[in-house]
Amino acid sequence: MPDIRTIKTDFPLFRHHPDLVYFDSAATALKPQVVIDAEREYLEQYSANVGRGLYPLAETATEKFEAVREKVARFIGASKSTEIIFTGGTTASINLAALLLASQISEGDNIVTTTMEHHSNFLPWKELAKKCQAELRVLPITEEGALNMSALGRYVDARTRVVAFSAVSNVLGTINPVQEIIAAIKAITPDAIVLVDAAQAIGHMPLGVSLWDADLVAFSAHKMFGPTGVGILWGKAALLETLPPVAFGGGMVLDVYPPESSVGRACAAETTYKEIPYRFEAGTPNIGGVIGFGAALDYIGSIGIENIRAHEMALTEYAMKRLKETFGAAIAIVGPTEADKRGGIIAFSFAGIHPHDIAQLLGEKNICVRAGEHCAAPLHRRLGLAATTRISFSVYNSEEDIDTLIEALKKNTLLLNK
Ligand code: ALA
Repeated sequence: MPDIRTIKTDFPLFRHHPDLVYFDSAATALKPQVVIDAEREYLEQYSANVGRGLYPLAETATEKFEAVREKVARFIGASKSTEIIFTGGTTASINLAALLLASQISEGDNIVTTTMEHHSNFLPWKELAKKCQAELRVLPITEEGALNMSALGRYVDARTRVVAFSAVSNVLGTINPVQEIIAAIKAITPDAIVLVDAAQAIGHMPLGVSLWDADLVAFSAHKMFGPTGVGILWGKAALLETLPPVAFGGGMVLDVYPPESSVGRACAAETTYKEIPYRFEAGTPNIGGVIGFGAALDYIGSIGIENIRAHEMALTEYAMKRLKETFGAAIAIVGPTEADKRGGIIAFSFAGIHPHDIAQLLGEKNICVRAGEHCAAPLHRRLGLAATTRISFSVYNSEEDIDTLIEALKKNTLLLNK
């Protein structure tokens, strides 16, 4: 792992805000200069559309865009780049998955999600269940903030068509044993389609989608140093090939005929669509964003994913220790107690103090945290909390940042308790 001071110089935001403590990487990670440069280079030097033009600039844009698809495939351990669908982000990926899977669900089937999901991995399934007259089942969590695996057999059965869960919870920080969970699901019903929301995992820890044996995996570029407006839906080729397109337009079609009635002859035929993944990518994508995402993947590679995991885990351990020793019984930290069972995410609450007040006062001290229910209302209901304050780590955070937070929290909690 390079020196933290060197790493901070990679992120121009710290030039503009030298004293900033940024603890909101679970919402979006900061962008290194190499990502900004790659996106700007596309905009300045070869900003043509992809997959359409036959002139050299368009060919350059297409080549560089498709090279990122290959890079993503390698990064996540996918067997083929045709399994990589570019979307607008995790939310768009999961919504796309829900639309694609509508054709697989009948009345009386069930869809299983979990209490720890953020709304993006909850609402699309709730709506899909309603549309298909299927049942939505919500796998509970344990007191420790893990998925309740001993309840799995009561939630997953032969009528389960889809199971959707996150690799890392955006509130509890829990790292779910994805491979084990998928094996347990498939042991009950091999035909269930499993979607993993990897938004808080990819870019933070080593993983491999083929190793997991997931069917679909969703994540965003912007949580791993890439631009906003870019996401991935990875799917097993054997599954994607069976699914019809759900969004229609340019770039996804081979041939289109007008209806027979309007041409007045018998040559009208069905529209033919491109092969995967293009048939799921209607319209012009966020080309500059995808190019920037490629640079983000290279940036992660230059630091090393194992180094990132080790750094974030050490910070998590240090922060939990300091929070507990400083505030004792006054602070409640949600989720697993051991740092090696969590990603770099810690959500907490102080009795009698609203997290919004804490976040605002920390904000005034240049410390960025998130407060609220973090788009995870069902989870906060289960925890019996209206809201929590959340800190989340990345490569540019240090123990010194945590010390700064502790000092500021000491002042705030005193102030707010008066
Ligand atoms: N899901 C993102 C978060 O947890 C936005 O902040």
